[in-house]
Amino acid sequence: MRNSLLNPKLSYLQYGIREIVLIADQIKQRNPSFTMIPENIGDPIIKGWTTPQYVKDLLCDAARNKDMVWGYVHSRGLEAARAWVAQDANRCYPKANLDVDDIVFANGLGAAIGLTYVALPEGVRVIQPSPSYPTHASLEAFASGKESISYNCDPKHGWQVDLEHLESQIQKHPEITGILVVNPNNPTGAVYSRETLERIVELALKYNLFILADEIYYRLVYHGKVHHHMSAVVDGRVPLIVMRGISKDIPWPGSRCGWIEFHNAKMNADFAAYAEGIKKRMLLEVGATAMPQHLVPYLYEHPDFQPHLEATNRKLEENSTAIAGILNSIPGVTCNPANGAFYITSVFEPGVLHDRQTLPIANADVRAFIEQEVRKPGIAPDKRFAYYLLANTGIVVTPASDFFSPHYGFRVTTLDRDPKKLQFTYATLKAAIEAYLAS
Ligand SMILES: Cc1ncc(COP(=O)(O)O)c(C=O)c1O
Repeated sequence: MRNSLLNPKLSYLQYGIREIVLIADQIKQRNPSFTMIPENIGDPIIKGWTTPQYVKDLLCDAARNKDMVWGYVHSRGLEAARAWVAQDANRCYPKANLDVDDIVFANGLGAAIGLTYVALPEGVRVIQPSPSYPTHASLEAFASGKESISYNCDPKHGWQVDLEHLESQIQKHPEITGILVVNPNNPTGAVYSRETLERIVELALKYNLFILADEIYYRLVYHGKVHHHMSAVVDGRVPLIVMRGISKDIPWPGSRCGWIEFHNAKMNADFAAYAEGIKKRMLLEVGATAMPQHLVPYLYEHPDFQPHLEATNRKLEENSTAIAGILNSIPGVTCNPANGAFYITSVFEPGVLHDRQTLPIANADVRAFIEQEVRKPGIAPDKRFAYYLLANTGIVVTPASDFFSPHYGFRVTTLDRDPKKLQFTYATLKAAIEAYLAS
């Protein structure tokens, strides 16, 4: 090429949650009878959930009878959908006072996350939680061309935010201008207390920062926990971006429909200009997926939504307790039951993993392939474990190191619908971990 096409920033784009599926595909090529048990992806549909009938009925009715659903929508989103989102945000925090101009729809929250970081000026950073959902950490690093900067969440304290570490990182890195809070959290399942969120807001005030609150799981909370909306905690004091979508609580991840809410934008000219930049960026994309936006005003207001949500949270609570019980009974492994979202991240005790551990792999081709993969330089010990687990049992987990965690471990989803399948999967996982650690 006349100029090199190699972009060094591409190395920041990592999404281990799905990258491990490529390893599973390679195993399948070598052993066609190999079956995967996907505990890695937070997709309710592949774990046996069905989109509620009323959603399907709304969709069919719109597709058959409303020609408008087949067209483009406003670049920032259908006005009726933005009006509903603004109304919902005002319900969460009555003084929010949002209107349609404070909302931008995107093709899933994943796309909205990309828009948000790409619009930041050069050198301006948003500190990420660790462990971190890779779309945030990777896209923030990609946009800035530098490794992500993170604050620790502590597995010994229910994965709560280490506020001292957060403040020390803010002091150490003057380029930090925003704090990302994912609550309820992916990958840890933690739900933050009002006091923790208040302390984060105090840090934002002290150091003149904005806050980015990813609340896509805010309705999925159980074990008696309460979700505190960041907008209410901020209470008009700090510029804030709230991120939500319909992938998780409806559940309709294939809709690719998420949105950003700008709160308190007018209090700071810089932040207001940044928000306008994100809107402009969306203008160039023409607009996001129309069909789900036409349904958004009805999805959460339908009388069947609340019973669906309550049944979902009951199941997630039951699964969280069952899975955490099994994982915590394994010597060398600890985990916190999820209180929100649908993930549990377990950690291996320091020192229990080493690079000679293995699990039996009957197929010689598969064994040779896995041995070659785990010999690659720099492979994290928990990824090594995840590869052997995959080849031995078919169970796909995401290594904790793929969430940029300093604690080796793995994330699983708590989405299994079928209790028998869940018991089988986690009994198999437990036996495999015990065998791997003892090998
Ligand atoms: C914390 C978090 N934010 C954003 C997303 C992206 O959601 P979407 O399906 O709307 O792109 C996910 C998906 O797993 C998530 O866990």
